[in-house]
Amino acid sequence: METGLLHLHNLLRWVLLALLLLTMIQAFSKKESVKSTSLFLMIVAHTMLLIGLYQVFGGRYAWSTIPEGTSVMKDGFYRFYLIEHPTLMVGAIVMITWARTKAKALAYKPVAYALLISLLMILAAMPWPFRAGIGVPAWFPGM
Ligand code: HEM
Repeated sequence: METGLLHLHNLLRWVLLALLLLTMIQAFSKKESVKSTSLFLMIVAHTMLLIGLYQVFGGRYAWSTIPEGTSVMKDGFYRFYLIEHPTLMVGAIVMITWARTKAKALAYKPVAYALLISLLMILAAMPWPFRAGIGVPAWFPGM
């Protein structure tokens, strides 16, 4: 199950990024369809949050697996996966959730800018393959 959830976490990032871009473009161009896409976006984002929480507390790099004597803040790998990645991603998901409440009222500008900030946070916190020390080589699960 653990591998399956990790693969899902890896794959859903593309669904999340596609929905995020689509909803943001719709908000910038004042399209009423932002109401439904923002809902799908929020559902995918909250699914990522649940899987992420599982990784942090029950996954292979969970808090309980940190070797004796390792300082999380001094170890770039654990600091990334247990502090930086979760904090920025939770922040981005909060922005997505807030954007959804604004989308229901068709307040286009706040939706567009909240999603833009959320996108930048996600791009910054992603373990891209080219990131030294923490990068995940798989662009897609199982690659
Ligand atoms: C916008 C939401 C998120 C995106 C796009 C995202 C993306 C990713 C990606 C691409 C990986 C690498 C997966 C792999 O090794 O195949 C990963 C790993 C991980 N993520 Fe996230 N993540 C998100 C949210 C979260 C949240 C909210 C948490 C924690 C609360 C979290 C915790 C983790 C952990 C602990 C790992 C390492 C798991 C492992 O390699 O065993 N993620 N994430």
